[in-house]
Amino acid sequence: MTRIAVYPGSFDPPTRGHEDLVRRSLGLADRLIVAVAVNVVKQPLFSVQERLDMLRAAIGDEKRVSLQSFDGLLAEFAKRVGATIIVRGLRAVSDFEYEFQMALMNRQLHPSLETVFLVPAVDLTYLSSSLVREVAKFGGDVRPLVHPAVADALARRFHS
Ligand code: PNS
Repeated sequence: MTRIAVYPGSFDPPTRGHEDLVRRSLGLADRLIVAVAVNVVKQPLFSVQERLDMLRAAIGDEKRVSLQSFDGLLAEFAKRVGATIIVRGLRAVSDFEYEFQMALMNRQLHPSLETVFLVPAVDLTYLSSSLVREVAKFGGDVRPLVHPAVADALARRFHS
């Protein structure tokens, strides 16, 4: 049986932390679907297509990874694509409450779906898309934190 995992998120933009989680997820699943949420409450900096393009550049041509966007409930999307695992990253205790609630709600909606939490490399634990956006906006160097294609996209967005 092919074990399919979904790694959902806003990825606005993808960071080295997301890339690390993609690599780690491949140890758990045969196929990984990185799923970009369309309808998140926040106002995104990048369009869904831009986020998919940045993810493609950052992840490269890994055959077991596919990229998709989804609208509506994650649990419904996971069911539709035949996934049995949701992967989420846990960086710090502050992530825990929201992630715990989300995992239980997704189980309520789709009982055979398991949420698995992965811890990123220790030197990436402080990293978040929102911090990367803020640093880039004020002209800080984000090149160590994101793929070069993402750094270029941020520079174009804020400083072109
Ligand atoms: O990277 P993020 O912003 O923390 O990802 C959050 C995301 C997109 C995974 C979450 O908001 C989500 O699953 N949205 C889809 C709508 C949904 O299913 N909401 C109920 C979650 S219990």
